[in-house]
Amino acid sequence: MPDLNPETIDRLVAAASEVRDQAHAPYSNFTVGAAIIDAGGRIHVGCNVENASYGLSVCAERHAVAAAVSAGGQGIKGLAVVTDTSPPTSPCGACRQVLVEFGDFPVILANIEGERIVTSVGDLLPDAFTPESLGKGQE
Ligand code: THU
Repeated sequence: MPDLNPETIDRLVAAASEVRDQAHAPYSNFTVGAAIIDAGGRIHVGCNVENASYGLSVCAERHAVAAAVSAGGQGIKGLAVVTDTSPPTSPCGACRQVLVEFGDFPVILANIEGERIVTSVGDLLPDAFTPESLGKGQE
């Protein structure tokens, strides 16, 4: 799994930080921004979108994945997640499963104070159930 260079990390964190301002989080007031870089170098973003029917709320990471897929982004090369917490917030279990669908790639956990933790999908969700578990490759 190739590392992200420092410039790419800066771009991703900036994009995640910017989209975080669009979060619809009137119930939790916990706003999250996420940004994905694809194999073509394009960045796709998502924020959390909550609902009065709380269980329908969707995390920022899953919206970023949906944006990347919808835009035809081929291959996820990295993800940044930005919150206003210290230490930075790590993706929820459901999002980890959604991320592992697209392979193992670096995940940058960041906050608005500038703290950064670099981890990976593989570290966040070891022994995952993946497309390979079904006998299918990444498609
Ligand atoms: N949330 C995310 O968007 N990403 C995470 O990794 C953790 C949680 C959102 C869901 C909900 O809108 C709010 O944060 C509080 O759980």
